[in-house]
Amino acid sequence: MRSLIDIAELSIEEIDELLQRAEDIIANPKKYAHACDGKKLATLFFEPSTRTRLSFEAAMYELGGNVISMASAGSSSATKGESVADTAKTVSCYADVIAMRHPKEGAPYVASINASIPVINAGDGGHNHPTQTLADLLTIYREKGRLNNLTVGFCGDLKFGRTVHSLITALSRYTGIKFVLISPDELKLPSYIKKDIIQKNNLEYVQTTDFEAVLPELDILYMTRVQRERFFNEEDYVRLKDSYILTPDKMKLAKADCSVLHPLPRVNEISVAIDNDPRACYFKQVFNGKIMRMSLILKLLEVEV
Ligand code: NCD
Repeated sequence: MRSLIDIAELSIEEIDELLQRAEDIIANPKKYAHACDGKKLATLFFEPSTRTRLSFEAAMYELGGNVISMASAGSSSATKGESVADTAKTVSCYADVIAMRHPKEGAPYVASINASIPVINAGDGGHNHPTQTLADLLTIYREKGRLNNLTVGFCGDLKFGRTVHSLITALSRYTGIKFVLISPDELKLPSYIKKDIIQKNNLEYVQTTDFEAVLPELDILYMTRVQRERFFNEEDYVRLKDSYILTPDKMKLAKADCSVLHPLPRVNEISVAIDNDPRACYFKQVFNGKIMRMSLILKLLEVEV
């Protein structure tokens, strides 16, 4: 039995299998409509979510399975003081797989070592978000036809943005990847990721505050929201929240085939005027997220189709 807590737990070959399976699901959805008949997914969300929870649930329904859901911490026994370990043991009696989001880093890991069913990390604090990365990888793969030889810019809150941490970890294993890290000084990529992932693998990278200077060289631009809920005070958030805004004028500086990604929710970082630009891929990412979650559920439940 296997869980997914950190994207690094999947080998490049396994990611490739998940991508190929995703392409097959897109091409032949009927083939998968009963693949998870009789199985249940439990979504345990101790933090707000629109896409991640609903896409896990839609994914399970499209595989013919069922869903039981805890949509907020406030409605659960966590308010009575129940531990994550006890919750995981309990839900193991009700479901076949758990998707868990939690504000505390490491909580889904604790769940995974206590559960008797696979646990999928659906976002833990400012740490990791592996299934968003699967959505991002499918999007890049479908747009570019490859996951190597790419200059990838990350812009915004690189400190608290868990989707950034997981995508950098995943891409660091492909060849010819160059990272361009664009953020205010206060929101730079955590040094543990820079040292343990980027520098350890001898990857090329630049760190800058100057968005416009680097925009013309990017193949992928990954925009992110400043993560208000992780700030210690509102003043800092207000000062930093609009550090980078992608406008149609700025898009003129980008390559004609630069793909713009964003894990969503968008606050102010991308002007809505860009939504119809053919380079905008963020709503395609939403669709791809559901498909990759289908692909992942099949893998973790070891379903043969
Ligand atoms: C992201 C998250 O929860 O980390 N959202 C998502 O799952 N698509 C990004 C964010 O909240 O900014």
